[in-house]
Amino acid sequence: MSTSDSSSSFGSPIPRRTLLAGAAAGSLLAALPAGVASAGGIGSFGGYPFTLGIASGDPDSTSVVLWTRLALKPLDADFGMEPRKYPVHWQVADDERFEKIVCEGTTFALPENNHSVHVIPQGLEPDRWYFYRFRAGSELSPVGRTRTLPAPGAPTSKFTVIHASCQNWREGLYTAWRDVAKEPVDLVLFLGDYIYEGTIGDPSSYKPRAPMVLPDYMRAACMELQNYRYRYTFYKMDPDLQTAHAAVPFVPIWDDHEVANDYKGAVETGSRHTRAAGAYQAWWENMPTRLAKPTGTSMKVYRRFPVGDLLQIDMLDSRQYRTADNDPVISRLGNEQEAWLIDGINKYGARWNVVAQGQQLGNIPSASPTRDRIYGAYYERGVQPVFLTGDMHWTIVLDALLQVPNAASPIVGTEFIATSITSTGDGPGSAGTKNNWLKNPWVKYVDGLRGYIKSEFTPTGMTAVQHDVQYVSRPGAPGFDAQKFFIEHGRAGVQLI
Ligand SMILES: [Fe+2]
Repeated sequence: MSTSDSSSSFGSPIPRRTLLAGAAAGSLLAALPAGVASAGGIGSFGGYPFTLGIASGDPDSTSVVLWTRLALKPLDADFGMEPRKYPVHWQVADDERFEKIVCEGTTFALPENNHSVHVIPQGLEPDRWYFYRFRAGSELSPVGRTRTLPAPGAPTSKFTVIHASCQNWREGLYTAWRDVAKEPVDLVLFLGDYIYEGTIGDPSSYKPRAPMVLPDYMRAACMELQNYRYRYTFYKMDPDLQTAHAAVPFVPIWDDHEVANDYKGAVETGSRHTRAAGAYQAWWENMPTRLAKPTGTSMKVYRRFPVGDLLQIDMLDSRQYRTADNDPVISRLGNEQEAWLIDGINKYGARWNVVAQGQQLGNIPSASPTRDRIYGAYYERGVQPVFLTGDMHWTIVLDALLQVPNAASPIVGTEFIATSITSTGDGPGSAGTKNNWLKNPWVKYVDGLRGYIKSEFTPTGMTAVQHDVQYVSRPGAPGFDAQKFFIEHGRAGVQLI
């Protein structure tokens, strides 16, 4: 079960409660056996290396990715790290006090991966929660909570996902992530714009983040790997984001701002290649994903997650293969990805087919050949899909019509476009823009505050909740559930309840 090459590396002679409380380095040094001390590099740290938090993600029914990245001085040009490998110990336990260890082991944080760690403990039990933590030298990470999925086809009575996107750091505080950490939720689908790549000005351009001051080298637009590494670093220093990651596994995909505004399509050569290759590498380093490390600008991110007999979640890549938006023949998803999506409809015979994507398949009031083909394929198979989408910085809930914009055409499924975590700031946005969308009869709800959508699936129905935060420009915003939605299984179309 364990991939351990250093058993009991957290030092079994020490009462585990002491470890959990984060004992001072001195007392741990005194208590740990000498062999463990040398193997673990104890004393080699001049500070706390888990400044970017911990995370888990991409679960399946027997394993889940555990992530951390060591950065002793995250705002330093070299993150306070030497260009060498550091041993990192990890543990998975049944309980928060780590009295029942399930598996543990040692891995290395490598300089070529910017000292990130992706560990995949194997042989876990399906459909249950675990706790995990890391140790580097004498320093312990916070304790994280994660879970495995129900085995494909296994009877599953309930599963809850949150989808969220667009967390422009300089435009607001991550109060919505504070609320995610408190939700009883099984999985977070992060649908893109984890970072924004543009130049950041002086502190007046990131007022909500006061009194934090970024060093000049971290404010430059992301053009190559090191810029992207800086960008993820100060984003990941946010305590609310760290709390959400520690509370629940994430499944991430990307949209445009992980690379460049409105970028689309393959990037093979030249400075754009350098940019995209750096962007992909930094994304991989900082996400709790089991995807293989990218080579150049090739990284297959679209993937499928079966959740018992209840759900199939298909995660799409809205950007990398996009060469045409409204071409009658060339897919907006790239022909290969579109074929994968359509061929995989109802692949697991689950009750619900969920498609999560960075961006919509077509604009709300306009025809889109790609969307027509995909919606048509679901309709032909008698499957009512639920689309979970990012990008818009508005919550928009709409029925998916077979032929947009023909309001009389059959309803195929429903789309929930989530607002942003922070992007575009406080809201509530322009009433004119909101009313324009609501003129389309298939658009059922529009909301311009920041937040996320929580969706609970059961065999008979899907209940979604739009959660808003009142503002993001200053700390302590109240959070509230703004609207509830219901879809009855087997009956396409959303109801506001
Ligand atoms: Fe965005």
